[in-house]
Amino acid sequence: MFVKPTQGHDDHGAGQFTWDDKTAEWYAAEYGDHISNDLTIVNIGLAPDDLLLDIGCGTGTAARLAAEICTAGKVIGIDPTAAMIRIAWEETDENYTNLKFMVGCAEKIPLADQSVTIATTINSLHHWEDYKKGLVEVVRVLRPDGSFIIVNDIVDGDTFGHGYGPLEKPVHIISILEQAEFIDISLEKYNKEGAGIYLIRSKKP
Ligand SMILES: C[S@@+](CC[C@H](N)C(=O)[O-])C[C@H]1O[C@@H](n2cnc3c(N)ncnc32)[C@H](O)[C@@H]1O
Repeated sequence: MFVKPTQGHDDHGAGQFTWDDKTAEWYAAEYGDHISNDLTIVNIGLAPDDLLLDIGCGTGTAARLAAEICTAGKVIGIDPTAAMIRIAWEETDENYTNLKFMVGCAEKIPLADQSVTIATTINSLHHWEDYKKGLVEVVRVLRPDGSFIIVNDIVDGDTFGHGYGPLEKPVHIISILEQAEFIDISLEKYNKEGAGIYLIRSKKP
């Protein structure tokens, strides 16, 4: 989702948007099934036995797509906005027995150490209150050799449209992953239906 940058503000964007019941309903109607979810899940190479955590899962579109692949594993979507989690459950039928949604934020992931094989975050990193704390939590919950995938829409050339500062462009996100000592970092770009994403892969340090 494009959020207009605050001119002259050296912030990564978390403070520019309030997530609540109203914005969750609006987001669900406008962007809930945005193609970025599909582009992510199709391209990350999920295995049936993967244990996937989607951080900032919103209305759960990517998590549902992942649950259709991880049939011998498990998918968990977390989001701090209670209305997002409510909508995610409403849009999920009883056939998704390997999928659950929980209220929770990146800075305090409500999961045990080393409990997932892959963590994704789609158009959400810029909204985290404290991305450094979030990265520490991602490392904690990933199993050894686990993958962390950051996806953002391409909004304007090589920027994400979420303000200035340390998360403005893919190169900045690669840099914060390096600082947090993630390894095997790579950048990919995918397009479909006139929209595009940057997908940044990394592995637990
Ligand atoms: C632009 S929406 C993207 C939702 C979904 N991933 C998608 O692509 O449809 C950003 C999401 O990040 C969530 N969010 C905000 N702060 C967060 C935090 N500290 N940790 C995790 N998610 C957060 C919001 O509640 C919101 O659902």
